[in-house]
Amino acid sequence: MSEGVASPRRSRGSELSLELVPTGISGLDKLLLGGFPRGALVLLAGNPGTGKSTIAAKFLYEGAVRGSEPGIYVNFVETKKDFMVHMNMLGMDLQRLEEKGLFHYKEALTIVDEDALVAQLEKILQLVAETGAKRLVVDSVTAMLQIIRDRARIRELVQNFFVNGVKQMDVTTVLIAEHPYGAKTVGYGIEEFIVDAVIILRFETHQGKVKRILELRKARWAPIRQAEIPFYIRPGIVVELSLPEAPEEVPPLDLTRRFNVASAIAEFSRRTPVCTVRSKVTELKELASAVFTIPRGAQVILGHYPTLDSKHVISLVVAALITRYKPKITVMSAKSSPTSFHNLVRCLLNLAHHDRETAERLAARHLSIYSFNPTAYTLTEIYDMIRTTVDRDNPDIFILEGVDILEVFADQREYQELVYNLMLRNKKRRVTSIYTFSSYSREEFYRRLAATMADVAIYIGEPHFLLESDHVGQSYTVEFAGLFGRVETLIILNTELLFRSGCIG
Ligand SMILES: Nc1ncnc2c1ncn2[C@@H]1O[C@H](COP(=O)(O)OP(=O)(O)OP(=O)(O)O)[C@@H](O)[C@H]1O
Ligand SMILES: [Mg+2]
Repeated sequence: MSEGVASPRRSRGSELSLELVPTGISGLDKLLLGGFPRGALVLLAGNPGTGKSTIAAKFLYEGAVRGSEPGIYVNFVETKKDFMVHMNMLGMDLQRLEEKGLFHYKEALTIVDEDALVAQLEKILQLVAETGAKRLVVDSVTAMLQIIRDRARIRELVQNFFVNGVKQMDVTTVLIAEHPYGAKTVGYGIEEFIVDAVIILRFETHQGKVKRILELRKARWAPIRQAEIPFYIRPGIVVELSLPEAPEEVPPLDLTRRFNVASAIAEFSRRTPVCTVRSKVTELKELASAVFTIPRGAQVILGHYPTLDSKHVISLVVAALITRYKPKITVMSAKSSPTSFHNLVRCLLNLAHHDRETAERLAARHLSIYSFNPTAYTLTEIYDMIRTTVDRDNPDIFILEGVDILEVFADQREYQELVYNLMLRNKKRRVTSIYTFSSYSREEFYRRLAATMADVAIYIGEPHFLLESDHVGQSYTVEFAGLFGRVETLIILNTELLFRSGCIG
């Protein structure tokens, strides 16, 4: 059983059973065994701009949208207009919820003395009672408590208002605390032992790039195994945690549906002399289809000699697979531009189908290509981009070109984590995936972690120039190590024809 997948009993009946309310933040609920206990006091602290208000707003938003639980946001630092505009930009239409009576905003910017604060807090309790609010956010307790100097008085107020007040009304409350940059102490104005959970947000910078980290410091009802979790803020999903994948959730490979790359390429080569397959095994159809098979959901690593342009290989594989199986393919590349890729695939399809329109239609319908510059993002962001793209496109086949380039720019451990989690995730979702690496030798290629994780490995050796009467181009030895063993074949790419047809060059 992996961390966070156990779910505790949630019956309302017994005094001793715990009712958990989902936070609505993807990943956090999993870590917290389902969410915050109803009536919990949660301290959400962090540096300026880390995402405290965003997470708190998402907590109210999801409670209202999914659970029809009214929520109240009390803000001592931000005007209603600014707040609503920011949250709207992230995709949370709080105004609509306000119209339905599911969201209430209390602007408390002008409170300057203790009497006014106490009066304000009483009004909030009243509002909770009137609106039947089930969720409350105070942004921030630091600002609120600055109004009072006396520490004993602060404790008394916190006890009366939060512990004896809203908590007793079964309102789940998020208290935001500001944590100045460089501050070493954990003085948030409110003692950490009063609250049921403590979540801290902070920034980390890696090579000038920013990474957001959520630290789970305390959760009275849930075990804390993974204390530091990277997270992102993004319009739409708003906040998402990047949790490790659970291997036990991976289903066995689906052998009833599979892609036979070699026979797809052999078929392609019969349509156009742009490529030729020289192998005895592909002629023995039954055997070949067993040996060269890539079951649906398999994770394939494709290594190639560095002087070989992986774009050529991938385009050939893509064009052959589209011609044979008509799958939906998504390519993400750390090295080639989408246009050059698309052009090459369309050109190959045109050569095979002898019809520009068919080639255009097949490419448009079956292929999506994206590229990204790995130096512009942290690995966490790249992982997030890949996940988002795969989730959105929901392809049958996913290809990541230039995984070795990611490795060069990243911290080793982080890189290994990305490869591991990405492979598990795609396998779990049954997305057949091909990851390309350049490598000078197959021995080096097989030593990678990705090789340990992969179901199928393909290695394409150093290209040799070939000059024959009907073949002018490059020949490669392709080694295929799959479920049924290892087999070699020779593929000739007629680069002269590619040049002449305007596909490359
Ligand atoms: N549309 C957006 N897409 C991605 N990130 C965004 C977007 N809008 C805002 N952000 C990020 O969210 C952060 C703001 O988050 P938020 O206001 O929740 O932080 P905070 O911790 O409450 O800050 P403060 O300490 O100022 O109250 C910004 O720093 C910004 O980087
Ligand atoms: Mg804020």
